[in-house]
Amino acid sequence: MKPVKTRQELIKLYIDFFKSKQHKEVPNSPLIPQNDPTVLFTTAGMHPLVPYLLGQKHPLGKRLCSVQRCIRTNDIDSVGDRFHNTFFEMLGNWSLGDYFKSESIEYSFEFLTKTLGIPPDMIAVTCFKGDKDAPIDKEAAERWKNLGLKEDRIAFLSKEDNWWNPPGQTGPCGPDTEIFFWVGTGKPHGNPGVNPKEWAEIWNNVFMQYEKREDGSFAELKQKNVDTGMGIERTLAILNKCESVHETNMLFPLIQKQEHLSGKKYGNEPNETKSMRIIADHIRASVMILAEKKAPSNVEQGYVLRRLIRRAIRHARLIGIEGKFTKAIAEEVFPLYPDYSYLEANKAFILTELEKEEERFSEVLEKGIRYFARLKETIQGKVIDGKTAFLLYQSFGFPIEMTQELARENNLEVDIIGYEQEQAMHQELSRTATEGKFKSGLADNSEATTRLHTTAHLMLAALRQVLGGHVEQRGSNITAERIRFDFSHDEKLTPKQLKEVERIVNDNIKNNLDVKREEMTVDEAKKTGAMGVFEHKYGEKVSVYTICDPNNIVSREICAGPHVTNTKEIGRFKIQKEEASSKGVRRIKAILE
Ligand code: SER
Repeated sequence: MKPVKTRQELIKLYIDFFKSKQHKEVPNSPLIPQNDPTVLFTTAGMHPLVPYLLGQKHPLGKRLCSVQRCIRTNDIDSVGDRFHNTFFEMLGNWSLGDYFKSESIEYSFEFLTKTLGIPPDMIAVTCFKGDKDAPIDKEAAERWKNLGLKEDRIAFLSKEDNWWNPPGQTGPCGPDTEIFFWVGTGKPHGNPGVNPKEWAEIWNNVFMQYEKREDGSFAELKQKNVDTGMGIERTLAILNKCESVHETNMLFPLIQKQEHLSGKKYGNEPNETKSMRIIADHIRASVMILAEKKAPSNVEQGYVLRRLIRRAIRHARLIGIEGKFTKAIAEEVFPLYPDYSYLEANKAFILTELEKEEERFSEVLEKGIRYFARLKETIQGKVIDGKTAFLLYQSFGFPIEMTQELARENNLEVDIIGYEQEQAMHQELSRTATEGKFKSGLADNSEATTRLHTTAHLMLAALRQVLGGHVEQRGSNITAERIRFDFSHDEKLTPKQLKEVERIVNDNIKNNLDVKREEMTVDEAKKTGAMGVFEHKYGEKVSVYTICDPNNIVSREICAGPHVTNTKEIGRFKIQKEEASSKGVRRIKAILE
């Protein structure tokens, strides 16, 4: 493999390669999109190109390439493993109605094997296996085979893995083929469908050949596009035989600084190693957000920034770094990006804001940790109630995700619904919305999440109908893309039960049922048979959402909303996964198609 040491070398190789294939380079856009209020951050190279993927003519032509800085907040819980970052840079090439699958795959293969010198045997790919919306992507698989990839290096996977959705509910989308590099021990074998942990994704080629429509159907696009994205940190890790992205020279200087400050050795102890990775990732991402003149706050990008900095501070304490440290680590970021001149230009702002947030949080963090330690000793059962989680936020500045992380570390859970109710009572609704955005990485597409909130009610009702009245909600996490729903039940659901739940929910959706909202006291709500989590301290008045068909009450729940007004707005409900969540609690992941 070619010894490519720095990001600058890799970027140059990539851009030169695609220029030699008649591509024009588009500039690296800001991390905070300028004309797109639906997203908090640029999450992919294709993001600034959406209007052109939809058919607008690009002034530079039909073949484009770029390096794009990105933030993906939905990967935050994975940071600390081998290959995830919140901030990263993406190399990409696009065909706007020009070449399609064949050349796209050929270019990727040539760049990887010839320019970077990666042995073909170290490469495996995944292709879309087909479903009712679109057929199996034989064309992509055949092209890989023609280029010499062995049959057992090609996995066919479902939409969950091999489909790129439009950033919103409608728009261009299609199957993709993802390219993986062998990161297992010994000789490469299998493919990402067989032994996924031993293969790391480095490049994704999306073939935008469909348009998802309002009614959930897919139509062939007139202009078929290619959109690819390759992670710089991952590729550097692979070319330099690093165990993870954190040992590349993009992040290792930030780790070495921590070794110096803490006296701990990276790689000695798994939890400390994970903390060091989180600190390096989060401080680098914070510098990048601050560089775009965003300061920590309680809303939108500022809240994301606040969470990153506060989490880094907590992990610094875990590895024994006392006192101020963020500035020392942040200083290491600047020399890595000589081409980002705005970093140096905003250095004073970046470091001052970082330190201000550090001072603010350090003052309360210790007290909060002591409060949590006492709580751990005195808590009855395993669940931290919503009121306490909210107090940790309000009095000690613990973002809810930090409380959840602490809870996980101590084998506890957080009553997230209770927390949200508590927050709603404190008229903190804007913050809830921001948290939704933080989780998905996309702005809270309120229509999408609203549809899923109502779906959660229909699903609970259907689960009770199919499994019995013992089923109660234990947790729910909704992003614009999916719902994750925990409920009490002891056994794995059979395929028949899952189908039946889907059928009942979809029948209720199709029956155009009104969703009625009423305000009443908790006692009145209880009398009407409304479901709710009654251990919660509800406010004086609560909202009760009722869905009726002509003969029955389908669902009645106390809820902080938001909800659609009629089930016809929802779309088609599909369960993607059913699994155990904890003892006596099952978890369903579901989407709307
Ligand atoms: N949009 C695709 C991705 O982000 C390819 O660039 O993976």
